[in-house]
Amino acid sequence: MSALSVDNLSIVFNGKDGGFTAVDAISFDVAEGETFGLLGPSGCGKTTALRAVAGLNLDWSGSINVFDTPLRPNRKIIGPLRRDIQMVFQDPYSSLHPRHRIRRILGEPLTVAKIEDVEAAVLAALDRVGLKADIAGRYPHQLSGGQRQRVAIARALLLKPRLLLLDEPTSALDVSVQAEILNLLNDLKRDCGMTLVLVSHDRGVVAHMCDRAVEMSKGTIRHALARSDLEIY
Ligand SMILES: Nc1ncnc2c1ncn2[C@@H]1O[C@H](COP(=O)(O)OP(=O)(O)OP(=O)(O)O)[C@@H](O)[C@H]1O
Ligand SMILES: [Mg+2]
Repeated sequence: MSALSVDNLSIVFNGKDGGFTAVDAISFDVAEGETFGLLGPSGCGKTTALRAVAGLNLDWSGSINVFDTPLRPNRKIIGPLRRDIQMVFQDPYSSLHPRHRIRRILGEPLTVAKIEDVEAAVLAALDRVGLKADIAGRYPHQLSGGQRQRVAIARALLLKPRLLLLDEPTSALDVSVQAEILNLLNDLKRDCGMTLVLVSHDRGVVAHMCDRAVEMSKGTIRHALARSDLEIY
């Protein structure tokens, strides 16, 4: 089954001086279980494309299918797909509520989903990403960058998504922590059977993680990269 199929996706931002096409008719397919890379320099439209797939930007044209279910422009994602698609953001500082303890940050989505024994589920989620139980009582600013990104990954995994969207998940981290987080993502993917879409400007990160990738430039796809192309890197 195709996990994600994007066809002719375009995204235009309207400003005072007219429209700016940030994503210009891109198409790609991601098979279930694959790790797929969106590679390209700053400003080429990677985050913009990913936000549309996550349902965070509804103003797009073209078609997006997730597990063979079409998303619709200008409509929120509803039903089971809302749990199936989760996103991890580039900067874990701004994506974690600064005044909530980790226990609450991880507990709230579970409470909303009416999961029983939230505390046990929070501790299990921390354990899954290699964090100790005492982290639950801390605030985000009391964690290292790597620990924060682990919490962000734990949160994205809480509702057992089938498609995990990763927007530069390690670019805010130093090199040694980067490798730890990438290896963690690979382990989690193997254990949970997820499909990953990884956005990065770093060819080495994409080569390390992805089965296939596309290279973007100024809103368009310039090259499709097979595993053998990534290995040459
Ligand atoms: N809300 C917005 N309104 C207007 N323009 C935007 C908006 N969001 C993004 N853009 C523009 O769209 C283009 C693509 O931005 P995007 O954030 O997708 O790039 P990116 O490839 O993720 O870059 P980076 O690697 O720096 O994160 C940029 O020129 C950016 O300025
Ligand atoms: Mg970006």
